[in-house]
Amino acid sequence: MNKENFLGKPCSGVLITGGGSGIGKSTALALAQVGRPVGIWDLNGENAQHVANECNDLYGVKTAFLQIDVRNSYLFDDALNTCKNQIGPIGGFVHAAGIPGPGPIDMVDDELWDSVLDVNLRAAAILTKNLIPTLKEANPGSAIVFLSSIEGHVGSGFLPAYCASKAGLLGLTRSLAQRLGTDSIRVNSICPGVVDTPMMAPVLAFGELKEKLEKQAPLGRVCSPDEIATSIRFLLSNEASFITGTSLIVDGGFIAVSAL
Ligand SMILES: NC(=O)c1ccc[n+]([C@@H]2O[C@H](COP(=O)([O-])OP(=O)(O)OC[C@H]3O[C@@H](n4cnc5c(N)ncnc54)[C@H](O)[C@@H]3O)[C@@H](O)[C@H]2O)c1
Repeated sequence: MNKENFLGKPCSGVLITGGGSGIGKSTALALAQVGRPVGIWDLNGENAQHVANECNDLYGVKTAFLQIDVRNSYLFDDALNTCKNQIGPIGGFVHAAGIPGPGPIDMVDDELWDSVLDVNLRAAAILTKNLIPTLKEANPGSAIVFLSSIEGHVGSGFLPAYCASKAGLLGLTRSLAQRLGTDSIRVNSICPGVVDTPMMAPVLAFGELKEKLEKQAPLGRVCSPDEIATSIRFLLSNEASFITGTSLIVDGGFIAVSAL
């Protein structure tokens, strides 16, 4: 069932953190649709298993799933070996695990700050380090996509730790693109605007706020997670073979215009 890549090699597997929900889930399905095996890691093991089963049932690809807290980097080595045994060489990595954070700076303490930075940023860096051997093995075509945000580019007074983590991912993207470019591994970020996922559900539940957010985007609506997933799939594919070290804003024009 697996399709072949542009050199006639079988498509390599993709590890997706946060693959049990929202953008990560849509990404797993979009990749499985084009024949890529997927490894789904999530804090919520039931969701991870459900997504893995769906990818296999719908598209017949090899899958793996794991309940894991990506803050626990000491687990990565064993977890990656198990994943590789199940889906084969891993030539793609999508870091979609993320948490929004505690609120404005007045509410931040060391523990809350660290938990946001550890999930959103540190896990991306350390997992990449652990993945280098299998990304090289799976070449040509290995690539990484980090889920940053428009809040990596613009500020929100309510989310200082989140904004810092997402801007940090943009810096990490540039740094890793240089280091891993020598191994022909591409590294990019996606910066979504407002996407209709469980993370945003509490915000979008406020009718007036949803309307305001929709009005601010020139396209006049919030994004579906599937629209982010297809952009991620593009950046992981050979169609993006000369794109590295950059970020793609997918926000319906939200930050291109002034709210005035
Ligand atoms: N939804 C949006 O509007 C939006 C906008 C910009 C960026 N993003 C980013 O996209 C990514 C996906 O967000 P989403 O909207 O799909 O959210 P979501 O809450 O639907 O999915 C996030 C997933 O990450 C998992 N996760 C959280 N902490 C984890 C941990 N410690 N270890 C392992 N897994 C963990 C959750 O269990 C969940 O399944 C996040 O990084 C988010 O910051 C989302």
